[in-house]
Amino acid sequence: METTFGRSVDKAAQNLKAGRLVAIPTETVYGLGGNALDEQAVTQIFEAKQRPKFDPLILHLDSIEKAEPFVEEIPPVIKKLAHQFSPGPITYILPKKPVIPDLVTSGQSTVAIRIPNHSLTLELLKKLDFPVAAPSANPFSYVSPTTAQHVYDQLHNKITYILDGGPCQVGLESTIVKAESRGIRVLRLGGTPVEALKEYVKKVEVERTSGSDPESPGQLKSHYSPGTPVKFGKPEKWLKKFKPHQIGMITFHHLYQAIPEANQYMLSPKKDLSEAARNLFRALRYWDSRNFKVIIAEPFPEEGLGMAINDRLKRAAEKA
Ligand code: TXA
Ligand code: MG
Repeated sequence: METTFGRSVDKAAQNLKAGRLVAIPTETVYGLGGNALDEQAVTQIFEAKQRPKFDPLILHLDSIEKAEPFVEEIPPVIKKLAHQFSPGPITYILPKKPVIPDLVTSGQSTVAIRIPNHSLTLELLKKLDFPVAAPSANPFSYVSPTTAQHVYDQLHNKITYILDGGPCQVGLESTIVKAESRGIRVLRLGGTPVEALKEYVKKVEVERTSGSDPESPGQLKSHYSPGTPVKFGKPEKWLKKFKPHQIGMITFHHLYQAIPEANQYMLSPKKDLSEAARNLFRALRYWDSRNFKVIIAEPFPEEGLGMAINDRLKRAAEKA
């Protein structure tokens, strides 16, 4: 299949309407989009990604009001969050209506809804009369793509068109939340920090990264893994076990003496967690492409986007 790149919203819309897959830019990561109401298109998404069918997809719409035909209700706490944070890096888990194919939700009674904050994709979604189901546009369990080139590198023979919206501005997937009695539960840490949610909701519980049976089925321990082994934790311990030239290092804002500067990727020399988040997946891909023996990543401050960065690194370091 010939894959083309471009900035044509019309071309993206035509392909989606014809049941074909299109990669879409968002502020978090690129998505692998298809018509959520068309089971054949949804099947193609699972196949292109080699994604297991037990891992449900997120539906993308251009406003929360447009979710009404697809969900039984939008609880007040979610309306409040949507008013504050959407369009943006946040996804809501809501009770679904039967019109959403079970394939999309892996047979669950809930569906994930997100309003992405990217001008091209919002324009695209406005032109469609169906939601776009889109997981991150990477092969299952690999690092998510933050540029159109990343998508092309891995999926070019599997999709028709890549809508190129430039590099993703947030760089980490959306935060996933679900209403609970008197508050919300965070099922996946992501681009909307927990502290920001706490300004609007009194009770915010954070689901700990779990093993085989997480409430959000995609939250398996091992995920986001490049081919090169990743070690995450205080680097001193790992630095002793490998020779300096075998290591690709990921640091926040300073360099380690023990290894050459060329083997270190500083995510934000100015110590800005947003900038670090934006560069994280690019850094993982970069070291992975160098065929080093190991990627060593230091822990980030456990606050703001640092929590989501640590979550991704921890899971990149888990063995499958
Ligand atoms: O930022 C993002 O969310 C990106 C962009 C493309 O929007 N999308 C993304 O999709 O990260 P994906 O498929 O890679 O991750 C979706 C996560 C999975 O962990 C899945 O288990 C969870 O959402 N999910 C989907 N539907 C769910 C549901 N009904 N209940 C609980 N978790 C759900
Ligand atoms: Mg993903």
